[in-house]
Amino acid sequence: MKGESVKGKPKVLVTREVFDETLEYLREHCEVDANQGDVALTGEALAARAADKEAIVCSLTDRIDAALIERCPGLRVVANIAVGYNNIDVPACTARRIMATNTPGVLDDSTADLAWTLMLGAARRITEVERYIRNGDWKGWRLKQWLGVDVHHATLGIIGMGRIGQAIARRAAGFDMRVLYHNRNRVAEGIEAKLNASRVSLDELLRQSDFVVLQVPYSPDTHHLIGAAELSKMKPTAILINSTRGGVVDDDALVAALKNGTIRAAGLDVFENEPKLNPLFLELDNVVLAPHVGSSTEATRRAMAMTAAKNAVAALGGAKPPNLINPDAVTSKT
Ligand code: GLV
Repeated sequence: MKGESVKGKPKVLVTREVFDETLEYLREHCEVDANQGDVALTGEALAARAADKEAIVCSLTDRIDAALIERCPGLRVVANIAVGYNNIDVPACTARRIMATNTPGVLDDSTADLAWTLMLGAARRITEVERYIRNGDWKGWRLKQWLGVDVHHATLGIIGMGRIGQAIARRAAGFDMRVLYHNRNRVAEGIEAKLNASRVSLDELLRQSDFVVLQVPYSPDTHHLIGAAELSKMKPTAILINSTRGGVVDDDALVAALKNGTIRAAGLDVFENEPKLNPLFLELDNVVLAPHVGSSTEATRRAMAMTAAKNAVAALGGAKPPNLINPDAVTSKT
């Protein structure tokens, strides 16, 4: 009997620490095995804990791949506490009719705020000046001290104009910016007009923008979307922001571009192979670094965890979860 545990309530694994209210909610509906110790479960430990579960509430640090899915015969739903889901093998889930869900919407504004934090921080060299003060090096005001670049009236290029890209564009109005975007599809005319944004080719966006912000999901199609060739098309005064996923940028090429002055600066919240970032980033002053905290405000992280829990509970209750990524898992016949 797929989906029913001996105790009557379906079993769920919560792979990493969540908030108390998330657990309370899950416990109303499920038998919960929670890794509140928050030490990331690696392959074998994760598979062993997941093996008898009907739901997994997981984080972007957990690899939910075909081999793991194979070990979980009763699994019915994988609920990611993230909007990105490149950590989940969705086709493998669909093939087994396991629902996969994410947390879109609740994190759009917080993530957009962080992209802007990196833009402003890199433009006005905020981490450099902070280090300067903390080092006790500030001897007084000078006209030519710590000159940055203006964000206002500059051209903002957004690659990936989904919900978060649009939230980033909305904020640009207050800075009187020109907004360009590159997206597979044109966004609705009404939205384009509201955002005062023009769709251009990737080439044109790279050549014209003062700030290039990446907001595409990571997939084989977007792997190293920005590499040496793309960086060389950018203005030498331009600033690159990656607040989406490591791997969208070729980090080695970016290190070289920052070192050689191909571009002016970067603001990065995500890295290839994070948390092990390219150590050369640490030697560069013209990069603002953050440890994948795009959505990390208390309210948003609480909302994300609860959204994932509700997705899991809905799926376990036989309903279509609100944020189902793979509708074919429900409709396809085995
Ligand atoms: C964070 O990176 C997310 O995908 O939610």
